[in-house]
Amino acid sequence: MLKKIAYILMGLVALLVLSIAIGQGPYVEIPADVELGKEYEFPGEAAIAEETAQLMINSIEERHKNDDLTLRDAHPFAHGCVRGSFQVQSEVPASMRHGVFAAAGSYPVWIRFSNGGVKRKPDIEGDIRGMGIKLIGVPGPKVGPEKNTQDFLVITNPVMPAGDPGEYLELFKAAIGGKPMGYFLGGMPWDWKLSAFRKVIQIRSREIPSMLSTRYWSTVPFRLGETAVKYSVRPCEGAPNAERAMPEYPGDNYLRETMVEQLGEENACFDFMVQAQVDPRLMPVEDPAVDWDEALSPFVTVAKIEIPAQTFDTPAQHRFCENLTLNPFNSLEAHRPLGALNRVRKQVYDRIAEYRLKKNAVVRTEPTGAERFE
Ligand code: HEM
Repeated sequence: MLKKIAYILMGLVALLVLSIAIGQGPYVEIPADVELGKEYEFPGEAAIAEETAQLMINSIEERHKNDDLTLRDAHPFAHGCVRGSFQVQSEVPASMRHGVFAAAGSYPVWIRFSNGGVKRKPDIEGDIRGMGIKLIGVPGPKVGPEKNTQDFLVITNPVMPAGDPGEYLELFKAAIGGKPMGYFLGGMPWDWKLSAFRKVIQIRSREIPSMLSTRYWSTVPFRLGETAVKYSVRPCEGAPNAERAMPEYPGDNYLRETMVEQLGEENACFDFMVQAQVDPRLMPVEDPAVDWDEALSPFVTVAKIEIPAQTFDTPAQHRFCENLTLNPFNSLEAHRPLGALNRVRKQVYDRIAEYRLKKNAVVRTEPTGAERFE
């Protein structure tokens, strides 16, 4: 009897190991002669992008059909928008001196901090968090609709749960249908997406004491000169926002409250860092579920983001924040987004932004950096 139980247990463990191995990816078939910085089309990519966009339009339409205000379909709840400056450093390595990093200088920025989840829930519950950085007064040819801005979008995890746009579409479908677990653990054990599931657990269990005291990553790559890079944003060493303990009794909106308290008293500072792709296999362009190892290619600080002490938690400023459109394709050609997931985003962000601004009777405008609401 005991032997039988042992065999069954061993069988289950073997199944689990097999499904973890299968679930690891890589998701995208990479050719043997893969090149640095090169993009590879995913099979059926255009149809997947269209279906993803339509799914999101339907979702936002359905969710807000009885509301006065239509929110974003992802990252709908903002902790706040704050103003600051993006100061490109003078000692940027020559290979990285492209686009806004070409020369030392300072750009005004608006930064929107958000929770990723589509449902409002207490901040203490696990979620991905976002930082949308909009540089203003950036001249030069652009990929997307805005002519004067450069946006950088980063989140509180180094990798995405899934790397391929088809997987992502299935994940969105399950999440929008209210059954996300169906994506991860649906079907037979060999169909389980255990690698993606592990990453989601990692994301959701990350403790975030403050939006100003945590690290962010782009997860997906971007062009920079001849190479592909990822971005990361980290509190500056020694800055007042560098260290922060979790609140003892975190309220439902503790992330906004903590930021109000921190910026009510002191300035905040972040390093904006760039990591160059040096190996096309170990650091793939087409699979954002793979972490680019910092031991192979370290992040280099190319700019400082300075956020002066300020009051930002006002109804007028929140309204302004709602009407901003942050989009990775609000970008110089020099920083063009790369990879299949980014190409899907190209189909989605603009359409969602157009839709919600129209529903809210707002004319799309680019900020000037001179807006003040206090
Ligand atoms: C197929 C993949 C993705 C889809 C379909 C998607 C979709 C969206 C949508 C619809 C919005 C709201 C846009 C608006 O209404 O203006 C949004 C916002 C956002 N997304 Fe994604 N996203 C994807 C991947 C990513 C990735 C890889 C990141 C990593 C940095 C990311 C970070 C963000 C952030 C930070 C925001 C909030 C921007 C803001 O504050 O306005 N997304 N996303």
